[in-house]
Amino acid sequence: MNPLVSPSILSANFSNLAEDIDMLNRSEADWLHIDIMDGVFVPNISFGFPVLKHVAALAEKPLDVHLMIVQPEKFISEVKATGAYVMNVHYEACPHLHRVVQQIRDAGMQPAVTINPATPVSLLKDIVGDLYMVLVMGVNPGFGGQKFIPHTIEKVRELRDLLDSCGSRALIEVDGGVNLQTGARLVEAGADVLVAGNAVFSAPDPMEAIAALKSL
Ligand code: DX5
Ligand code: ZN
Repeated sequence: MNPLVSPSILSANFSNLAEDIDMLNRSEADWLHIDIMDGVFVPNISFGFPVLKHVAALAEKPLDVHLMIVQPEKFISEVKATGAYVMNVHYEACPHLHRVVQQIRDAGMQPAVTINPATPVSLLKDIVGDLYMVLVMGVNPGFGGQKFIPHTIEKVRELRDLLDSCGSRALIEVDGGVNLQTGARLVEAGADVLVAGNAVFSAPDPMEAIAALKSL
């Protein structure tokens, strides 16, 4: 099955976001990946809800919101107000992850949990049954355009086995360092959704780059 593709607007042209969102609307992208950073959980700040509100108004595809922030539960209603489809929170940012996942679902969004490169897949055993999706980071979060960490492939395989053994139908998404080469290996390992920032926006033809990822 072809993967879903969720281009990350972190690598878009911030001085003319409307143009890039229009391109994504016309592309084969399935979702739009939205990276929110707080300068605390990750060593960078991207943009916040005032910007996301405008992005959401222009976007014609479901929003896949990835919160790289501490205490993401404080912002469930703000994320919901943007009309987001998926709300991704980090495992490492949520001591009461089960509660946060239920709150996201109660708010009417699909809950997803993200794990950093050093976080083992096995720690998700008791939560995967409640999730719509698990997001496996292929880089340390905070910046676009970083080099893919090869061990991510094994983590995706391990996660696929964990989901199968739990009877979970959660999707596996991978974010960071995804391009045609790493994407092909990730899909082979069991990834369902590919996030791509640099590989899309640095390509000579971003729409074609999305179509190529989609055909993996
Ligand atoms: C990284 C972000 C990613 C980023 C991916 O912290 O979560 O979504 O935009 O960028 P690329 O695809 O360039 O690695
Ligand atoms: Zn992301």
